[in-house]
Amino acid sequence: MLRPWTLLLKERVDIAPDSPRYMQVAHGLIHEIERGRLLPGEYLPSSRDLANALDVNRKTIVTAYEELIAQGWLASAGTRGTMVSSSLPRHEAVASERLPVPAAIAVDETEYPFLAAPGRPIAIPVGHWRKLDEGVPDGRLLPTDLLARAYRKVAEDAARANNLSYRDPRGSPELRREIADMLRRQRGLMVGADHICITRGSQMGVFLTARILIRPGDAVLVERLTYEPAVAAFRACGAKIVTVGLDEDGVDVADVERACRKHRVRAIFVTPHHQFPTTVSMRPDRRLRLLELARQFAFAVIEDDYDHEFHFGAQPLLPMASYAPARVIYAGSMSKLLVPALRIGYIAAAPQVIDALAYQVSLIDGMGNHITENVAAHLLESGEVRRHIRKTAQIYAARRDAFARSLDETLGGLLDYRMPDGGLAFWLRFRDTATLDRIETRAPALGLSFASSHSYTADDSGTWPASGLCQLG
Ligand SMILES: Cc1ncc(COP(=O)(O)O)c(C=O)c1O
Repeated sequence: MLRPWTLLLKERVDIAPDSPRYMQVAHGLIHEIERGRLLPGEYLPSSRDLANALDVNRKTIVTAYEELIAQGWLASAGTRGTMVSSSLPRHEAVASERLPVPAAIAVDETEYPFLAAPGRPIAIPVGHWRKLDEGVPDGRLLPTDLLARAYRKVAEDAARANNLSYRDPRGSPELRREIADMLRRQRGLMVGADHICITRGSQMGVFLTARILIRPGDAVLVERLTYEPAVAAFRACGAKIVTVGLDEDGVDVADVERACRKHRVRAIFVTPHHQFPTTVSMRPDRRLRLLELARQFAFAVIEDDYDHEFHFGAQPLLPMASYAPARVIYAGSMSKLLVPALRIGYIAAAPQVIDALAYQVSLIDGMGNHITENVAAHLLESGEVRRHIRKTAQIYAARRDAFARSLDETLGGLLDYRMPDGGLAFWLRFRDTATLDRIETRAPALGLSFASSHSYTADDSGTWPASGLCQLG
């Protein structure tokens, strides 16, 4: 394959004045060597390939190469071709210089039809602002030295065992075993490695779940306030989104039943541990009624347990998947536990569902990132993850208390909130919508950005009381 510098060389040859072509090529190559884009010891393309790329006669390239070999810039490596002479000094600083950015390439539907993004992709950060949203962990608390050591160990072990090729699309067996172990011990899920499929974040898990569940015309139920990226994934897979009620005890199950009588419901998406975004826990009787309805109307419960680890008071209720393994597709993530950038999520479900998801993974990226997955497995197995949770939970609990104090001092009387018993977020309800509007308007001047208070609604009615999330990360 030809390298980017051939483009620059072509430009040079095309615009050069009247000197012989082979000289233009030779000077162009010297220039690339001097700039450090062609490094000592690097092989050049064959004379035929370079001639084709530059649109010149092959003899021109052969002559240019011979001239530069004679001058000591290049060296012949026999049948392996021609290389930049290894005796030349390296210019590291120049070598790292970037190629110029090409002029913008723009396409629209007139070039070729494609499914355009409905808006700006959700997670593209804007500048260096501090974003107040659903509670991302504090990246500064990540034990980077442990992470680096784990990467080194995993890479070395895998290389030694020649184990770096394509593998199981369900994900690294080591990580699936560790996660199953954690779910069994700490969350009461009766699962083994065959019940786990690793995904790049739980978002991918939810998307793939939607892919295997939804047929045209199917409805997916979501609470009136919910996690918009999941809704977007269901919509992208063709689901009709039907919203159901929500109160201080979680989803309104009577509303779920009404929706089931009206629509062909294939799934409901819920976050029972900490309802997203209001942070309330779903009451046990609601959970049981929801499972009964799921059985009666044959739909799947997608339980997103995104921040199970962070509870500051009493032990949390066990996930619904622990008592209804056949009804529930359980989505978990290490994004809160460690950091989102590692992109480790997983689905726990019946093996048949896991196989269906793994097939989808194989279509998308073949197998995921087994090195990072084995790093996570190593950190789980060595107890480092547990130590990290213990340490950070204390820090977040202290931040929660400090944040509550400062809310009372600065905004007391203007809003209501319930002290969260876990998670990384506060749900604030402003008594007067104008207050939140004022804060949102002034935030940019302070370098703050908010997830808009409407970004948690699955419908566009905009009838929700002004509320917002603030993070502890
Ligand atoms: C409701 C909810 N689900 C899932 C996640 C985790 O997503 P992922 O694992 O794709 O990073 C988050 C992260 O903020 C979340 O708020």
